[in-house]
Amino acid sequence: MAARRLFSTCSLVFREFLVSKPGMFAKVIDGKAIGAAVRREVREEIQQLVSAGHRAPCLTFVRVGQDEASKSYVSGKSKAAREAGIKDQTIVKDEDITQEELLALIDNLNKDDEVDGMLVQLPLPPHIDEKTIVNAVHPSKDVDGFNVLNIGRFSSGSPYLLPATPAGVIEILKRCNFDTFGRHVCMVGRSKNIGFPLLTLLHSDGTGDATVTICHRYTPPEHLPICTKMADFVIVATGIPNLITKDMIKPGAVVIDIGINRIKDKDGKTQLVGDCDFEGISQVARAITPVPGGVGPMTVAMLLQNTLTAWKKKLSKQ
Ligand code: GUN
Repeated sequence: MAARRLFSTCSLVFREFLVSKPGMFAKVIDGKAIGAAVRREVREEIQQLVSAGHRAPCLTFVRVGQDEASKSYVSGKSKAAREAGIKDQTIVKDEDITQEELLALIDNLNKDDEVDGMLVQLPLPPHIDEKTIVNAVHPSKDVDGFNVLNIGRFSSGSPYLLPATPAGVIEILKRCNFDTFGRHVCMVGRSKNIGFPLLTLLHSDGTGDATVTICHRYTPPEHLPICTKMADFVIVATGIPNLITKDMIKPGAVVIDIGINRIKDKDGKTQLVGDCDFEGISQVARAITPVPGGVGPMTVAMLLQNTLTAWKKKLSKQ
């Protein structure tokens, strides 16, 4: 039988991450609490290593231009890094930086021994090729897990620095003791940074070991419910609010909603919702992640975890 790496490495099962709500059949998966636990563990491990005489880890953010969402994401990540005991720096470049200049900056950061992890915030201006930039980040410092070498690692069964959101979903499954071994997972969405890494990890030998059905934009709409209804786990990352409804879920399935959509409610107020009808599905599923407060908080937590991993690897070589 295949080694059950993904779940056997988890010694801590925190039942308190599954919250019962009045009138709901499904347990609500508390991603905020799971993210906080990961962040606390990262902080404690850093404290121990720093107390033993090592310098603190350093994470560098590179941001190009004045995109408001990117500013807010980077400031959130850098605050979380500081709280975990990670030294952070943010390098901001003008919108008109050339690709060559950005590559030169990344090269300097790759060579800088004081920098353990690096992240170039996306999206980049249209004159810069995103793939060239993410592949220029040295794989050992690639805390986003976007470099083609790190993609190759998880695709060939040796995961190292994983993209943060997929890693966050895996962490949720582990910490809630939801073993996918031999089960059926339906992955709805196949984006390069979320759907693809997840469906790869979830079917891999020794990682998820599940039967994975992939649904995407070209799946005929009448086939989608057939696929979701067969699944013990339905994982959704499409950016389409309310795509997945109660009638599409097998009773007792686990539903992980990675969607983040801003919609107007009937009073014209902006509301954050996922890709799933939370209320309806809560009547039939075994467990479901809310939006917000489900997968979202895991992304930053796993970025910090990746920084810790990159730093420790460097320390082990010194
Ligand atoms: N922009 C939106 N999400 C991300 C992310 O996870 N990493 C980077 N580098 N940019 C992003």
